[in-house]
Amino acid sequence: MVIEMSIKIAVVGSINMDLVTSVKKVPIAGETVMGETFATMPGGKGANQAVAAARLGAEVSMIGCLGNDYLGDGLLEVLHKEGICTKAVKRVDGSSGTASIILSEGDNRIIVVPGANHKMTPQWIEENRKVIEESNLLLVQLEIPLNCVQKALEIAKAANVKTILNPAPITRLPAEIVRFSDYITPNEHEYQTLLEDFSAADLSAKLIITMGQNGVLYYEDGKEVRIPAQKVPVLDTTGAGDTFNGALGVALCEQMGLDAAIRFANKAAALSVTQIGAQNGMPTKKMIGQLN
Ligand code: RIB
Repeated sequence: MVIEMSIKIAVVGSINMDLVTSVKKVPIAGETVMGETFATMPGGKGANQAVAAARLGAEVSMIGCLGNDYLGDGLLEVLHKEGICTKAVKRVDGSSGTASIILSEGDNRIIVVPGANHKMTPQWIEENRKVIEESNLLLVQLEIPLNCVQKALEIAKAANVKTILNPAPITRLPAEIVRFSDYITPNEHEYQTLLEDFSAADLSAKLIITMGQNGVLYYEDGKEVRIPAQKVPVLDTTGAGDTFNGALGVALCEQMGLDAAIRFANKAAALSVTQIGAQNGMPTKKMIGQLN
């Protein structure tokens, strides 16, 4: 008999409603153009990473904040449907987070208005410290206040819980945040900003750099290792990084070696871009297994 061990992942991060417009030509200032499609879809880097991990079989708990608005009601329901524990999702006065996303010419442009996400406090993380302490791994990103990111990482470190920091959207980081992170997963642009405060040598043991169509780069014993991107039809790259992080978390908890874990996450991210919307293309393990 095979006993499947359940993997527990805590995600401390943002929950947004994505307002997604596709348009052939992005208007310049003062110009009005006709768009092609519009849809509201669940998003937010934290929620996306939570969904990615849950689809891959992890038991996921989300620590976050939603507004007391109809967007918040809908976003909470989505998390429930994905089987994510939302006991540590607080409803606060005001609007939920939103992201206005323009899809055009194979790329995206995103404006995030954090709303409730920026009402998260270190006290809220403290009140829910057990969620982190009882997990195998913590995933954090930067769409919530930095003092909450730091608090979550501190709790995880003290409890010997593995941590992944996805430094997006990038901002200058205090040294503690970097020190408490076991893995840091910037894209190339975010990596350049990290280098303003930290040396490549200091970061390299923790670094996993995602490079879109150019694949993923990490360091093994100080030597660069490159994993090529999977070739797939690209419909929408929104949430690809989040899928990568959620899948990486699951793979590391399943004791895959780092190289195998990154390859698994790379496949998950590739599948995610084949559908429109941050969460729509997030795969199950079976789907990843079917990709060469
Ligand atoms: O990483 C993609 C996410 O960034 C979107 O879902 C959007 O909400 C923004 O937070």
